[in-house]
Amino acid sequence: MDNINDYIKSLPKAELHLHIEGSFEPELMFKLAKRNGIQLEYTSVEELRKAYQFTKLQDFLNIYYAGTSVLIQELDFYDLTWDYLLKAKENNIVHTEIMFDPQAHTSRGVLFRTVIEGINRALIDGHEKLGISSKLIMSFLRHLSEEEAFKTLEESLPYHDMIAAVGLDSSEKGYPPELFERVFAKAREYGFLTVAHAGEEGPPENVWGALDLLHVSRIDHGNSSMLDNDLIDVLAALQVPLTVCPLSNLRLKVVEDLSNHPLKTMLEKKLRVTVNSDDPAYFGGYLNDNFVAIAEALSLTRSEIFQLVYNSFEASFLPEITLQNYLNLLNGYQTSD
Ligand code: ADE
Ligand code: ZN
Repeated sequence: MDNINDYIKSLPKAELHLHIEGSFEPELMFKLAKRNGIQLEYTSVEELRKAYQFTKLQDFLNIYYAGTSVLIQELDFYDLTWDYLLKAKENNIVHTEIMFDPQAHTSRGVLFRTVIEGINRALIDGHEKLGISSKLIMSFLRHLSEEEAFKTLEESLPYHDMIAAVGLDSSEKGYPPELFERVFAKAREYGFLTVAHAGEEGPPENVWGALDLLHVSRIDHGNSSMLDNDLIDVLAALQVPLTVCPLSNLRLKVVEDLSNHPLKTMLEKKLRVTVNSDDPAYFGGYLNDNFVAIAEALSLTRSEIFQLVYNSFEASFLPEITLQNYLNLLNGYQTSD
């Protein structure tokens, strides 16, 4: 296979950092707005897409939360998730770990049950009809209080078997991990794994906090870790996975240009780095687009791409037997360059 883009497309892949609300394509948003009798602020898909110009994380979050306002019924959450799974299939994603933000919905009066049952039903269909395995990660919104996070954790307990881990997302600046130390401790007591966004817009201290206080299994983003050599050493020694999102970093101006992206250095430092799409409907591309863009910008080799995909499976929350099956499948795609 001579074209690296074809190689990327051909690889069976895992995705570990995907906000289901961030896969909400404008076309579906308008369809659901109509179905639910809700008026969007924009008059057309084109106008809405034009508004996707961000200078920082908060610009994006404002539009992202506004978009969720049309998600009302269980069927809406099903359709949202199913649309992503179809995209996942096109991208040759065989395993995906999806984050959802229950508080973006319960704060508008939508029941927790409505959200999770719609998402979960689509994930079951995704497995049966598309052959895609999945895990669900419930993220707390860090701009909301600890008390609200605790309330969400308690609400999730009847659905514990549908949720693999809890996470932490939304505005990083001003909301450090220590604010959620107790709620994460409780979540771990209940048997949930933990992940957290850290070092996206915030300093390396937030990555330390996620590791030492929240006891995370993975860091979402982790870009600013590269500013702290001691942290790099710890991440490498412990092989803590970083779920990096190139097009997100570009669109949110975490990096000025993809050619300045730290991913290649992360690989050289032997970090367990993975590539993900974050909020693909807003950032201009799904998983293959992220791989193609970063491979071109950093002149990645096939073996580096293979390593990145391999890392994603290894960093997943899959049980050992399923993991081995996927790694065996992937090993058929190993290259020598
Ligand atoms: N929620 C959705 N996408 C996010 C991101 N990239 N960072 C923080 N919170 C988010
Ligand atoms: Zn994210």
